[in-house]
Amino acid sequence: MVRFLNFVSVLEDVATKDLQELENNVEQAIGEDKFIYEACAPLINGGKRLRPVLFLLCAKSRGEISAEKTLPLATALELIHTASLVHDDILDSAKKRRGVPTINSKYGAQISVLVGDFLFAKAFQLVAEGQYSAQIDTILSKLVKNLCVGEIMQDRALFTVPTISEYYDRINLKTAVFLSTCCRLGGIVAEMDQKDVESLASYGTSLGLAFQIIDDVLDFFGDEKVTGKKIGGDIKSGVVNLPVIRALSVSDESDVLREIVTRREVTDSDIDDAIEIIKNTDAVEYCKMRADGHIDSARLSLPFLIKTSVEIALEQIADFVVDRTW
Ligand code: FPP
Ligand code: MG
Repeated sequence: MVRFLNFVSVLEDVATKDLQELENNVEQAIGEDKFIYEACAPLINGGKRLRPVLFLLCAKSRGEISAEKTLPLATALELIHTASLVHDDILDSAKKRRGVPTINSKYGAQISVLVGDFLFAKAFQLVAEGQYSAQIDTILSKLVKNLCVGEIMQDRALFTVPTISEYYDRINLKTAVFLSTCCRLGGIVAEMDQKDVESLASYGTSLGLAFQIIDDVLDFFGDEKVTGKKIGGDIKSGVVNLPVIRALSVSDESDVLREIVTRREVTDSDIDDAIEIIKNTDAVEYCKMRADGHIDSARLSLPFLIKTSVEIALEQIADFVVDRTW
């Protein structure tokens, strides 16, 4: 059962039919090949559908819009996101995602690369068949390039401590650009004017920065059963995230923490020690304060004159991003 964004009370009024169709389309896309379906269905079923939901809501900001204009692109966005997660789990040697074993842990990295490539190719097939404009093709290509650059930036800096500005460059490319692109594409298919499209995109950027900061907090302080991921995964894979950056600058035990996060092999007990050090600082409050600031900016970015139900849904998504536990 897909965990839709069911906290968005108005989502049902705005997009129930589209979301059902989205599920059918995604199912059909991965159902083209029996092995791909078996490998991907458990992963895909656990998603929030945040990206296609943002796109669909923004596409409806001025009123109804035909499913032919939205569904292929909405499906493609979910498939691109899934492809990126499949590849990300190889890079991170992650064992679990969305509460189920990762494709790499089940079938190995070789097969996982190809499963990610399949999803990625399928996404672009849907976009081609949907006959979107060259502008939309270019935006999608830039999105994927940015995801790759963000991941390369992160990979090249593993086991080192980034500055706040380097951290922001990374999370902007790997997360915020995606959410921003979904909102931008929604505005474009709704034929909104340039200024309003930019406002929606800014909402997405700020939402994405907050989303990633909370993701970093959940990496240490989430409940594995709820997040579906192993605690301390970032430290294990060498990603120095915002709670660590903050704790390193304020903790009395920053030397111990620095030694752990820059070491290539860590045990579960090292991760527990790191968590304890972070817990004894204001790192979580600091991250939440930053995330709240981005959410305030997201709200302020929303354009005037959008459908009330869409505005409420986008505001509720903003609230969810900072309060979420999954
Ligand atoms: C999860 O972030 C991963 C991403 C946001 C992007 C991954 C992108 C790539 C691997 C580039 C390749 C892209 C395509 C489309 C093939 P995270 O590692 O911070 O979060 P996590 O804890 O959920 O793993
Ligand atoms: Mg990861």
